[in-house]
Amino acid sequence: MAGCPRLVRCLPGATTTLTLALLALLLPPAAHGETKGFTIDDIMPLDKSNYDKMRPPKKEGKATVVFFHVTVMGIDSINENSMTYAADIFFAQTWKDHRLRLPENMTTEYRLLDLDWLKHLWRPDSFFKNAKQVTFQTMTIPNHYVWLFQDSKILYMVKLTLKLSCAMNFAIYPHDTQECKLQMESLSHTTEELVFEWDTDVPLAVDESIELPQQDIIMNYTSDCTQVYSTGNFTCLEVVFRLKRRLGYYVFHTYIPTCLIVIMSWVSFWIKPEIAPARVTLGVTSLLTLFTQQAKSQASLPPVSYIKTIDIFMSSCTVFVFMALIEYAVVNIILGDGSGEAAKGPAKPEPKPSKATELAIKESRRFLLGEPPKPAGPSPAQIRRGRALMVDRVSRYLFPLSFALLNAVYWFSFRQYL
Ligand SMILES: *[C@@H]1O[C@H](CO)[C@@H](O)[C@H](O)[C@H]1NC(C)=O
Ligand SMILES: *[C@@H]1O[C@H](CO)[C@@H](O)[C@H](O)[C@H]1NC(C)=O
Ligand SMILES: *[C@@H]1O[C@H](CO)[C@@H](O)[C@H](O)[C@H]1NC(C)=O
Repeated sequence: MAGCPRLVRCLPGATTTLTLALLALLLPPAAHGETKGFTIDDIMPLDKSNYDKMRPPKKEGKATVVFFHVTVMGIDSINENSMTYAADIFFAQTWKDHRLRLPENMTTEYRLLDLDWLKHLWRPDSFFKNAKQVTFQTMTIPNHYVWLFQDSKILYMVKLTLKLSCAMNFAIYPHDTQECKLQMESLSHTTEELVFEWDTDVPLAVDESIELPQQDIIMNYTSDCTQVYSTGNFTCLEVVFRLKRRLGYYVFHTYIPTCLIVIMSWVSFWIKPEIAPARVTLGVTSLLTLFTQQAKSQASLPPVSYIKTIDIFMSSCTVFVFMALIEYAVVNIILGDGSGEAAKGPAKPEPKPSKATELAIKESRRFLLGEPPKPAGPSPAQIRRGRALMVDRVSRYLFPLSFALLNAVYWFSFRQYL
């Protein structure tokens, strides 16, 4: 019995205390307003026919204002493929229903109401506009409650797990920043009857400890998204999260490995052009590895029809590896059929006797005519080989330089998104 000690303390004198204590014992506890239970009839208007639970409580003909508060406890499961994310929220709606009677002698600031009573009272018909799935938890008890304040204000609080859709654009993936929303709209009342507003004190609270695997919440704000339909204007409020992708994962799993593959393909320029299997294998392996890498970088994304930033980078790298392979083809062409000749080099077979005699005649004639002996210049095969090696030598500088240039241009143009 909470009322008795206070009553006793208020009155001085031991005798009065004793008499009052006796009085308190005699009185039934129900006589005290604080402990008295009450039913829906205690808050409903006396004439129940006056209360239409389908009609918002429009005081003096003005639209009912419902104040919203959202506490975001968690954001997770951001799925690029299905363009959804999940959020755990506490969703509070506060409105005043002047039609209700207050329970008599309400001493506390608010009272907890029976949730079944909601069936008989008017309540806002808000719905989550971009939700694909809403989960209401019932363990250990259904996760919602209703408070009735002294000024006939009603607070309805519910905990929900939402799966929300979020339109994402991947044009500058993986340097992208996505805006994901949580929209709440009135289902059946136009703005003439019902208006949603953000709580004036704390409209939105976002748990600071939210940790996403790939993104950072760089901004969170509330906004109005009242929509004009042919049937009228419908009140709507939204929470917007701005999610910026962190580059760490992509640097270590896409950019660095891809650059290494491109660099690997240049090793070919240092291998002798005669060793075809080594150079071809190197080029083809690099190309295949790069394709695998490219497929991996797209794995988590929907197959979008526009070009993404990562595509530009990967395609450029593919072109580089491909060009390294083509470079060998060019080297091989320059080398011509003589490649075998050059390879044989010292193991040149002796000229046939007939040819030898021919040569001897030529030499003797030259000697007799006093012609100076021809300088022993390089053979055509050697000239070709020299040219081929030159192509390799130029490539050794040209490829790394242009790749460095590509990287410089790429990272410079996306510096603002880093
Ligand atoms: C409520 O309090 C008023 C005075 O504040 C008193 O007159 C009335 O009897 C009380 N009613 C009940 C049911 O306790
Ligand atoms: C949400 O926004 C508020 C105010 O703009 C800011 O103080 C808070 O740190 C933000 N929360 C997160 C998780 O970014
Ligand atoms: C709906 O909104 C538009 C623009 O905000 C306004 O011009 C129009 O009067 C509104 N209609 C109603 C029925 O409130």
